[in-house]
Amino acid sequence: MDVCIFAMFISAIIIYYFSEKILIRPLNKINSTAKSIAKGEFDKRVELESDDEIGDLANSFNYMADSLQSLEDMRRSFIANISHELRSPMTSINGFITGIIDGTIPKEKWIYYLNIVHDEIKRLMRLINDILDLARLESGEFSINIGVFDLNELIRQRVIKFEDKINRRGIEVNVKLIEKKLKVKGDRDRIDQVLTNLIDNAIKFVEDKGLIEIKTEIKERKVIVHIYNNGPAIPKEEIKYIWDRFHKVDKARSKGGGTGLGLSIVRQIINQHGETIWVESGDFGTRFSFTLSLV
Ligand SMILES: Nc1ncnc2c1ncn2[C@@H]1O[C@H](COP(=O)(O)OP(=O)(O)O)[C@@H](O)[C@H]1O
Ligand SMILES: [Mg+2]
Repeated sequence: MDVCIFAMFISAIIIYYFSEKILIRPLNKINSTAKSIAKGEFDKRVELESDDEIGDLANSFNYMADSLQSLEDMRRSFIANISHELRSPMTSINGFITGIIDGTIPKEKWIYYLNIVHDEIKRLMRLINDILDLARLESGEFSINIGVFDLNELIRQRVIKFEDKINRRGIEVNVKLIEKKLKVKGDRDRIDQVLTNLIDNAIKFVEDKGLIEIKTEIKERKVIVHIYNNGPAIPKEEIKYIWDRFHKVDKARSKGGGTGLGLSIVRQIINQHGETIWVESGDFGTRFSFTLSLV
């Protein structure tokens, strides 16, 4: 009997020892790391080297912590970028209006400076609209309403809308559409936004008297829309960043007061359609292409 009790006692100690080493201690580590992360210390990770399920749990936990950290980094840089983008127009509006009020800017120059103020306000409005669009797209608030529409007609309308800008800069535009009508599935308004952004970029980044080509082709039940402009290539190391929010390749020369949000919005819309978009850029120029499904 005594032997039996002794054996039970020993096995209890052994079980306790192993469960402490294999389960309790590692779980405590994970637990305390989770608490630190919840308090905002996003760089904390669980350090555990074991080949069992607890080790797997620690790895998954660290993976989750990585995602949280990158989301947090994104949130921070998003806010920093917005503040930066808001500050420069605000500073110049403030400067010119102050100059008018206190008389440093003479009356005959008022219209000139008010026009600049007007441009800056338009820029701010574009920025706010883009930010709102992106936020709505990302939160899923803008659900995509898939319908059927004639892509060719939409493309023609878009080109006409830009006619003034195109003519003013002597740009040549070739539109090569297959067939008269091209029925596709998609949210017409959102695809309109995609075309508007891509054509706007092509016009902005093509040189005066340059060439823009808008083309459609069909491949395996998909329509591919190509929007091409000649001109200098996007540097290779920049290509993967152009889809990022607020990314502008040439910040100093940033043309037309862009927000750097256009391509993020475009990609989000195409992804929500379950379609793809890509870019090729080189000595030949720059070509953005995206797919849509045929009806
Ligand atoms: N057609 C193009 N040719 C050359 N560079 C382009 C073209 N389209 C986009 N880019 C580059 O990608 C960046 C991001 O584009 P976008 O998100 O539309 O921002 P924005 O037009 O406000 O500058 C642009 O600033 C530009 O540097
Ligand atoms: Mg743009």
